[in-house]
Amino acid sequence: MNNNREEQKLEKSINGDGNGKRLLFFPLPLQGHITPILQLADILYSKGFSIIIIHTKFNSPNPSNHPNFTFKPINDNLSEAETSELSVFDLAYLINVKCLAPFRDCLTELFSDFSDVRRPFAALISDPVLHFTRDVAKSFDLPRFVLRTSGVGAFWGFTAIPLLQEQGYLPIEDSRLEDPVMELPPLRIKDLPVINALDPPKFYHLVAAFIEEAKTSSGVIFNSFEELESSAISTLRQQFPAPIFPIGPFHQYHPSNSSSLLKPDESSISWLDKQEPKSVVYVSFGSIAAIKEKEFLEIALGLANSKCPFLWVIRPGSVHGLEWLEALPNGFLDSLNGRGHIVKWAPQLEVLAHSSVGAFWTHNGWNSTLESICEGVPMICMPCFTDQMVNTRYVTYVWKVGIELENGLERENIARAIRRLMVEEEGEEIRKRALDLKEKAKFTSKRGGASYKSLESLISCLSPS
Ligand code: UDX
Repeated sequence: MNNNREEQKLEKSINGDGNGKRLLFFPLPLQGHITPILQLADILYSKGFSIIIIHTKFNSPNPSNHPNFTFKPINDNLSEAETSELSVFDLAYLINVKCLAPFRDCLTELFSDFSDVRRPFAALISDPVLHFTRDVAKSFDLPRFVLRTSGVGAFWGFTAIPLLQEQGYLPIEDSRLEDPVMELPPLRIKDLPVINALDPPKFYHLVAAFIEEAKTSSGVIFNSFEELESSAISTLRQQFPAPIFPIGPFHQYHPSNSSSLLKPDESSISWLDKQEPKSVVYVSFGSIAAIKEKEFLEIALGLANSKCPFLWVIRPGSVHGLEWLEALPNGFLDSLNGRGHIVKWAPQLEVLAHSSVGAFWTHNGWNSTLESICEGVPMICMPCFTDQMVNTRYVTYVWKVGIELENGLERENIARAIRRLMVEEEGEEIRKRALDLKEKAKFTSKRGGASYKSLESLISCLSPS
């Protein structure tokens, strides 16, 4: 990073360039959280705010991709072993411990730069998983909003966890997986946003802390929209103490600069250019989920057996015990005569918008789900943990724009699911619904749309009076 340039930008902001409308952002340093918060910063920059991004050194965003923002790195004190070996939940736990003091120091420094201004920053917008930010922001009398990066339906599920424990739905019993959760329609017990954590109380504690963080904020911003989650949004509005701002899909306001932590492989697009329209299955399980070697091989054989062309993202290290592709049968890709292409990371937005893509086999992380909806691409759903299960339920049962991979991750089931969606009549119906939903997603952020209105009301809450 060019520190001088960052200092100059900060000075410009101090000397009035931000017109008193300076916003501080603090993302949780994970891809699925960094992308939407930087997109939100882009939206608010275009509305006249000046943007300062406070961030950890671990998974630091690349400042040169965001020349309009000022970046303030803090010392996260995380060791390489911690960032590479801990589960995402343990890591979130540790960040909450280790970043408290550096974050406070960072705010002290920023506020001292503006000591002669009454209200130098309009607000902090942080990720509620960074729950330590609440007390720190309060001590600076800094208004705090949060960006929750899941869907609203999933967030509602998280808020209900204590009640679900009390009612006996949790911990989940295998014999009750299909039972409806009366308090959270349309979820069944197997759709609840939980995880097979080694230490369940620690997981529940983290969830309770981020819900409290959201409850006590000046507002909760969602990368979602009324037309998509109207029922969850209105329920949450009735039950939740903080205002709710569903202003998504963020990436549709205007093109944002890349916030990818890994370099997207552009051969994805040149390979797609050579395929027939709507013929390709795009396969990616996001930035965190990992699979076993046996599952990896079943996926490879299932894709091969489906006879459909496929573009498959395999992040290095995302198959337990493997570096990358070394377990694939010898000559696997050659035997497919160009029908398959494998990359380490894809330019996903471009891929989903490509005319050759006919389906997305996804883990239903919220960003992937929304990106697929925005491009009208039907989904094959394979949720891995927490909110992904809720998202799958909405995709398959509420919006009906995808099918769930059923009966386990085995080659026959995979090939069968792909053919159901790509070849059979059922797929045709799903495709039509996906295109209808795409239109709704397009309209909502335009003047008169629900997200547009919600954004306007967020901006008036953020603007200093
Ligand atoms: C995590 C959780 O899994 C998710 O449920 C939560 O809502 C956010 O945090 P992640 O697993 O990374 O997210 O999935 P997802 O939310 O889909 O985000 C992945 C992002 O990486 C997407 O924006 C996607 O476009 C991008 N991506 C993924 C790429 O750009 N290239 C790829 O090859 C794969």
